[in-house]
Amino acid sequence: MAAWDPQAYGRFAAERRRPVDDLIARLPRPDYARIADLGCGAAASTAALAERFPHAEIYGLDSSPAMIAAAHRVLPEREFRVEDIAAWRDPRADLVFSNAALHWVDGHIAVMARLASDMPPGGAVAAQFPDNLDEPSHALMREIAARPAFRAKLAATAAERQTIGGFVDYEQALAPHCRHIDIWRTVYAHRLDSPKAIVAWVEGAGLRPFLAPLNEAERADYLAIYEDEIARSYPRQPSGAVLLAFPRLFVVAAR
Ligand SMILES: C[S@@+](CC[C@H](N)C(=O)[O-])C[C@H]1O[C@@H](n2cnc3c(N)ncnc32)[C@H](O)[C@@H]1O
Repeated sequence: MAAWDPQAYGRFAAERRRPVDDLIARLPRPDYARIADLGCGAAASTAALAERFPHAEIYGLDSSPAMIAAAHRVLPEREFRVEDIAAWRDPRADLVFSNAALHWVDGHIAVMARLASDMPPGGAVAAQFPDNLDEPSHALMREIAARPAFRAKLAATAAERQTIGGFVDYEQALAPHCRHIDIWRTVYAHRLDSPKAIVAWVEGAGLRPFLAPLNEAERADYLAIYEDEIARSYPRQPSGAVLLAFPRLFVVAAR
């Protein structure tokens, strides 16, 4: 997987914080004692959890050393460690939280069910997944990757979709372990100031694996075509704003 860059991901922090707050708002209990933030990145989600649950023991883990180094700088008073979600277990955690990270783990729906079944009574698993693979922003990445100039280097990336499940997949996996399940999908319409801003947004996330295999000249060519196509798919509104529609899927499951 292409390396995560805390600086690139940190742009659009306010927009990226919104689903974290929306997920926290739907947690069924007013308090939790021990919270694990899986795939915490540079601690944006951990910071939101710490604001909402200031008395809880909260820690974050992430497989990226660069993200964990940034997390230590953001919240020096909390614990962060480099660790893979797939290998993580903590039966004492009564809230397992994961914002925009769990879908990177192979078989993430089964992993989520296992996390739920490991919970103490009253514990909850809460996750948010970007659901934007079929949006023009992401369809265009694959479409350009399939063009002759890029096919040789990008065919594998374009074929590797980090797909998430549908409502019924999470319902069926979690219902045997949980008494409370809340699943919803929200489409945010982020108002950005230019098509270039959309490119800057995805450079911090979904575009990384498409740019990583390319050399400098190929990367410049790919980006020029991508920016052009993005401008066509996301026209400026009369206000001057560009609207980035961004669907996200949310799951909260409690024992
Ligand atoms: C989109 S970022 C989200 C960061 C953070 N949760 C937030 O809301 O700002 C996804 C994070 O998941 C991490 N990640 C991806 N796969 C992982 C895995 N298998 N184990 C641990 N972390 C992982 C990445 O390193 C990245 O920091």
